[in-house]
Amino acid sequence: MNDTNSYMQSMLVSSPLTEPSVRSAIKALQLTPGSQGLDAGCGIGFQALLLAEAVGPVGHVTGLDISSEFLRYAEEVVNEAGLSGHISFQEGDVSRLPFGDDTFDWAWSSSCVGYSASLEPFSALKELARVVKPGGSVAVFAWSSEKLLPGYPVLEAHLNATASGIAPFLAGRSPEAHFLRALGWFRDAGLEESAARTFVGDAYAPLTNDIRNALVALFEMRWPGVESELTQEDRAEYQRLCWPESPEFILDHPDYYAFFTYSMFHGNVTG
Ligand SMILES: C[S@@+](CC[C@H](N)C(=O)[O-])C[C@H]1O[C@@H](n2cnc3c(N)ncnc32)[C@H](O)[C@@H]1O
Repeated sequence: MNDTNSYMQSMLVSSPLTEPSVRSAIKALQLTPGSQGLDAGCGIGFQALLLAEAVGPVGHVTGLDISSEFLRYAEEVVNEAGLSGHISFQEGDVSRLPFGDDTFDWAWSSSCVGYSASLEPFSALKELARVVKPGGSVAVFAWSSEKLLPGYPVLEAHLNATASGIAPFLAGRSPEAHFLRALGWFRDAGLEESAARTFVGDAYAPLTNDIRNALVALFEMRWPGVESELTQEDRAEYQRLCWPESPEFILDHPDYYAFFTYSMFHGNVTG
């Protein structure tokens, strides 16, 4: 499986776990029915569907992504949902959006602007603000924390202190570039009434197959290649608890419980 396919597969498998938090965040934005918005870095289009649902049958969502492969998949998803009249897609780069000033009523970017290590967050946020009409809103949303290994706080802390654990942040990067410092970008970009909100998701035993598979995918996404950075002792414990084929795989524990958070920062474009 190539990287794109495995990414799409991970998105598909993890969505039963993550979708409720995404829905809660979109609901909190109180998007105006009939409004027109941008989903910047839309990936395979799942959130474009939820955004379209939020703005109702008269609204419109434009999904933009740099990957033509993701967009092809997203178009299929939207066609199957019978929503191609309400959601359209465009290939492009969020740091040079192919839209004029004041095109949209709002812009949303999940796990892309402010989160992707390859995008300079402040200028990407300014670019989102440029294409939103005065009075409209800009929101960035991304994964912000988790507790996935109940009873093993030291192992989890060690995993989270690796390069995979802090990704997409990079060691040595300026603290201001970290996603949780987004309020500063909103202030510097001249957005008003900036606010932050956190959305919690959880899972506990007995796990349904869908949620178990989503958690397996999450472990793989959260700590890829982590073993090279662990001590021998941590590596053995990681393999014992976090490998699905292990007889002591933590997801099979009858008392398994986990939670995770997504954070959303949003602000309004000045009039
Ligand atoms: C982690 S995925 C998030 C996808 C989706 N928003 C979600 O939350 O499920 C990041 C997405 O941003 C896209 N992306 C990364 N850099 C981009 C850029 N400069 N311009 C447009 N899209 C970009 C990637 O192709 C990918 O689809």
